[in-house]
Amino acid sequence: MSESTTIRWEQDETGVVTLVLDDPDQSANTMNQAFKDSIAAIADRAEAEKDSIRGIVFTSAKKTFFAGGDLKDMIKVGPENAQQAFDTGTAIKRSLRRIETLGKPVVAAINGAALGGGYEIALACHHRVALDAPGSKIGLPEVTLGLLPAGGGVTRTVRLMGIADALLKVLLQGTQYSPQRALDNGLVHEVAATPEEMLAKARAFIDTNPESHQPWDVKGYKIPGGTPASPRFAANLPAFPANLKKQTAGAPYPAPRNILAAAVEGSQVDFETALTIEARYFTELVTGQIAKNMIQAFFFDLQAVNSGANRPQGIDPRPVRKVAVLGAGMMGAGIAYSCARAGIEVVLKDMTAEAAARGKAYSEKLLAKALSRGRTTEAKRDALLALITPTADPADLAGCDAVIEAVFEDTSLKHKVFQEIQDIVAPDALLCSNTSTLPITGLAEGVARPVDFIGLHFFSPVDKMPLVEIIKGERTGDEALARAFDLVRQIKKTPIVVNDSRGFFTSRVIGQFINEGVAMVGEGIEPASIEQAAAQAGYPAKVLSLMDELTLTLPRKIRNETKRAVEEAGGTWPGHPSDAVIDRMVDEFGRTGRSGGAGFYEYGEDGKRTRLWPGLREHFAKPGAEIPFADMKERMLFSEALDTVRCFEEGVLTSVADANIGSIMGIGFPAWTGGAIQYINGYEGGLPGFLARARELAATYGERFTPPALLVEKAERGEKFSDA
Ligand code: NAI
Repeated sequence: MSESTTIRWEQDETGVVTLVLDDPDQSANTMNQAFKDSIAAIADRAEAEKDSIRGIVFTSAKKTFFAGGDLKDMIKVGPENAQQAFDTGTAIKRSLRRIETLGKPVVAAINGAALGGGYEIALACHHRVALDAPGSKIGLPEVTLGLLPAGGGVTRTVRLMGIADALLKVLLQGTQYSPQRALDNGLVHEVAATPEEMLAKARAFIDTNPESHQPWDVKGYKIPGGTPASPRFAANLPAFPANLKKQTAGAPYPAPRNILAAAVEGSQVDFETALTIEARYFTELVTGQIAKNMIQAFFFDLQAVNSGANRPQGIDPRPVRKVAVLGAGMMGAGIAYSCARAGIEVVLKDMTAEAAARGKAYSEKLLAKALSRGRTTEAKRDALLALITPTADPADLAGCDAVIEAVFEDTSLKHKVFQEIQDIVAPDALLCSNTSTLPITGLAEGVARPVDFIGLHFFSPVDKMPLVEIIKGERTGDEALARAFDLVRQIKKTPIVVNDSRGFFTSRVIGQFINEGVAMVGEGIEPASIEQAAAQAGYPAKVLSLMDELTLTLPRKIRNETKRAVEEAGGTWPGHPSDAVIDRMVDEFGRTGRSGGAGFYEYGEDGKRTRLWPGLREHFAKPGAEIPFADMKERMLFSEALDTVRCFEEGVLTSVADANIGSIMGIGFPAWTGGAIQYINGYEGGLPGFLARARELAATYGERFTPPALLVEKAERGEKFSDA
């Protein structure tokens, strides 16, 4: 038999066959057509030469063990080619099943990441040994792309660990485990420190298990923890849909629902039927719009953003070794921690030594928590803390090759702190400001080297939020942009790049969402249903509570400043129906948000939210003012999507991938949409459907929903919204 194309058959003199996954045409192995043919040929050969085989080891010649389904193919699956996709999946599963039931020991030697399809191949093996490679991940993250693992992943995890553990540990969250945590949670049997040890362990299993079967192929096997047919399990079953609802807050995520159904139904039938059930639920997801949105955003767009499509070419990377963080408040403290975590030396400066020390204490707090949860070691904690030097003395900033400023949001103060340090840090140090709204071009006027000055907008809490918005000022040089981009990647965050303007992209667009929610209060709509609409639209934070967090006075200040700027430039300020609500809340009722102890919500002594302020009903609610729930949700989504288009019109944004990723990862635009632009492209009826709906909203709720000219032109040309 000839050698297959993506899997090498290497048999030694003792009869152990190593199947080396090594697609010659791609940097990673995927479940493409070539793999389908290869695995079928391997199954044929294994059956034909069974007597000369002592055992089989799956491993890979790539850095990752196996990457999974080919998403380039998957995003194209529609109802018309669904059957073909279904058949390909079935064929691959059948081949793996033939190897699994050969009667010979089969071991997965997982040399690198095994996510999705990669872990599904490993699940078809009788024994799993994972190499403890740095950054290597194991799990079934399909749910995060709006899919379910249909390569036997649902069927086998349910049989391996029981329905409850399979759902909660593996399937519903899509958790990606390090090899050690995969071992702790029962996803693999052994962990090896070196590739040699991994292969030795694989062989040892073969030597000691000459006849090996999966537990589920042994007569009398029962699913651990029972199935819905057993009374004990059935008693707990109703909790699952409730948990599911809580997890997705009623937002339109079909994948968790299908996963639950596939697991529960599949547990009550034989193995082969379970595989078919799993595949049918998968087909429903892969042909739908939400999986396409999520694959577009979390695979293609994220890859484009992180790979540096926006980074100027031809500039050599120069990793930052020592960074000055100016201002040790909430943001500065988080930035210091994130830099130190990436191994960068940090000088954390505030006005007093005490304030600087308080900033460092934030890292101590985070690390103590990580230590108590087993996520770090004492040695790693000490090493990280040793990298942060708190100070009030500008002289300590000598030698810093980058500066990140995070003092109060005040232009003249920001100018002052840069002037104080610009002759002390390295003469070509990168100069960054973490301002959330102030135009970068104006801030650059206060520094000696505007060409090296750039906006680096982090999100709160910095240690958790993955996005950084890079803002190019008018005089920012390409070198500064490349270095800022590299710095964001160095600290393992995702950089989007935008042009300068007030509020940039993220702060400006999230303002539309908040204003829309507040405007509904002014229309007399029941506040609790406004909050519910935000949750059901898929927003991670409710709209009025978000307003309280940001404080009501801040948008008022920004609004007044912007209004002045627009009018000074000879324009007319359109105003927003939310303005009057915010003014009344602040001026008439003295409610300025959470930091003031009262806002749209009431707060307890400990600063925790207690309930919506009953005064909202008394002073704003109008009986009969309810509008369709669908309108409430779409007003929020459309307000942000339309403003994102305006950002393109005004040149603030230039990349659709940045818009999608920035909106989801920076400001909580619902993930199921695939981001603010993908939401428009994927809307029912495409761009014309979106336009028609926007016009409807404009007619009912106001001019602000009138579609921008750029969108109308693209629709007229029959295009999707894209970069060109
Ligand atoms: P904060 O009030 O918690 O911290 C500001 C810190 O700067 C204080 O510790 C203060 O003592 C220090 N400071 C003031 N003058 C200084 C000086 N001359 N030298 C050294 N330190 C000085 O403020 P926060 O929230 O950390 O914000 C800082 C910056 O980050 C602002 O520009 C803000 O707009 C921006 N930002 C804030 C976000 C947020 O969610 N809070 C999000 C993104 C950006």
